[in-house]
Amino acid sequence: MKIFLVLLVALCAFISDSEECGNEICASDEICDNSACQCNSSSYTINPGSNPAPVLDCSGGYFDIYIAKCWLEKNGYNSSNIRLQSPTCPAAREIVNDTAQMALHRPLRNNDCNNTITINASHVTFIYKLYIFGKEIPVQTRNNIIMNVSCTYPLSMSVQLNVLLPVLGTTTINVPGTNINLTLSMVVYKDSAFSSLLSEDDLLFLGDTIYISVVVPALDVTHYKLLVTTIYATGQGTNTTNYDLLVNGCPASGLADGLITVISNGNYSESRFAMKTFQISGSESVILYAVVLICTESCIPDCSSQRKLPKTQGKPATVSLSLGASSSFDTNSANKHAFLCGEALSLWKLNS
Ligand SMILES: *[C@@H]1O[C@H](CO)[C@@H](O)[C@H](O)[C@H]1NC(C)=O
Ligand SMILES: *[C@@H]1O[C@H](CO)[C@@H](O)[C@H](O)[C@H]1NC(C)=O
Ligand SMILES: *[C@@H]1O[C@H](CO)[C@@H](O)[C@H](O)[C@H]1NC(C)=O
Ligand SMILES: *[C@@H]1O[C@H](CO)[C@@H](O)[C@H](O)[C@H]1NC(C)=O
Ligand SMILES: *[C@@H]1O[C@H](CO)[C@@H](O)[C@H](O)[C@H]1NC(C)=O
Ligand SMILES: *[C@@H]1O[C@H](CO)[C@@H](O)[C@H](O)[C@H]1NC(C)=O
Ligand SMILES: *[C@@H]1O[C@H](CO)[C@@H](O)[C@H](O)[C@H]1NC(C)=O
Ligand SMILES: *[C@@H]1O[C@H](CO)[C@@H](O)[C@H](O)[C@H]1NC(C)=O
Ligand SMILES: *[C@@H]1O[C@H](CO)[C@@H](O)[C@H](O)[C@H]1NC(C)=O
Repeated sequence: MKIFLVLLVALCAFISDSEECGNEICASDEICDNSACQCNSSSYTINPGSNPAPVLDCSGGYFDIYIAKCWLEKNGYNSSNIRLQSPTCPAAREIVNDTAQMALHRPLRNNDCNNTITINASHVTFIYKLYIFGKEIPVQTRNNIIMNVSCTYPLSMSVQLNVLLPVLGTTTINVPGTNINLTLSMVVYKDSAFSSLLSEDDLLFLGDTIYISVVVPALDVTHYKLLVTTIYATGQGTNTTNYDLLVNGCPASGLADGLITVISNGNYSESRFAMKTFQISGSESVILYAVVLICTESCIPDCSSQRKLPKTQGKPATVSLSLGASSSFDTNSANKHAFLCGEALSLWKLNS
């Protein structure tokens, strides 16, 4: 109750400080002109050498971006045209700390406003491009600016903050002959162009094709190549049978025949596969494991003969992710079971 009262008093003080203007309330750096809030042109100085300095805050599970509106106007930028890369994500005026701000509040998720996501073994980073344009009238004196703004979270916090991650697994792998450990990740795409990441809330149906990328982004490909030797699947719970999908770098025969196709493997820092989704009886979800080696030369597996793997060095590393079936999602069609792709919690547990 005490806290509530203090807040109320603070709020009243805040409102009474600000100027009412038509239907709007003006901030301390604005003036009321013809029933509209306009920037007070004497409230900021011109800083010819300095770029806009957005205030970034992602402590609340949203990415909050603020840029002082009147600073922008004073410095020759068009404050009414602040946006992210996607034109459908514009900033809007807000009053924060009694100053006028152009503000954006983005949910932290994959594929929002053309963001990109980078992942290492411990953190996920959401990168957005912020577009700031120079005023064109009467003459443009400021260059347009495209600024990267980013927000980094420990992976372990993503569940608490309701951050919607792509379906992914990460670990580290040692570079042979060195003491360097690099981030190894496995991510799933929805398209054969490997451009649209599968998210935890995307629905998959049995038999859909998904695209799996196993990648060590920092690997020096002039000296090393990535080879996925084995991909296998298990169910979750008591049935711990391993089902081989890829053996010695080549699609497995038998039960898993035809489930996986190699797109590329052993010639770069990334290996790519296409996989048909499937279910393991008695288990709601499928956990996929990839066993990865770093080769010191090109090591493209020869799948036409039963040749041994090329010479490699270094210890294998195993990375895994979980494709979770949603039991609550019931479909009538016999072979169209839905998978809900998030099981982030178990994913982190598996990898830590
Ligand atoms: C505009 O800002 C200047 C400098 O902060 C201040 O002195 C002046 O009173 C402001 N004008 C109005 C109309 O509030
Ligand atoms: C508002 O004030 C708080 C406390 O000084 C500060 O942390 C925050 O960055 C300010 N917000 C903006 C948008 O300037
Ligand atoms: C940005 O996102 C939109 C909608 O998600 C998409 O249509 C467009 O191609 C994307 N642009 C780029 C440059 O990726
Ligand atoms: C992962 O990325 C974060 C943010 O860029 C960085 O602080 C951290 O040190 C990185 N961790 C590893 C293991 O590379
Ligand atoms: C600011 O941007 C808006 C929207 O793109 C545009 O209509 C307007 O002409 C621009 N103003 C100036 C001064 O460049
Ligand atoms: C902005 O981020 C992209 C990746 O999303 C990167 O390729 C580019 O170099 C970055 N630009 C700057 C100026 O840092
Ligand atoms: C690399 O990983 C190995 C095995 O996890 C560990 O023993 C070693 O200390 C790590 N090296 C560095 C430089 O972090
Ligand atoms: C790796 O092999 C695949 C499949 O043959 C090919 O499409 C791709 O261009 C190769 N990549 C490089 C970097 O050589
Ligand atoms: C695990 O599932 C397979 C079929 O996918 C079944 O043949 C096997 O009996 C099951 N094992 C256990 C211990 O339930």
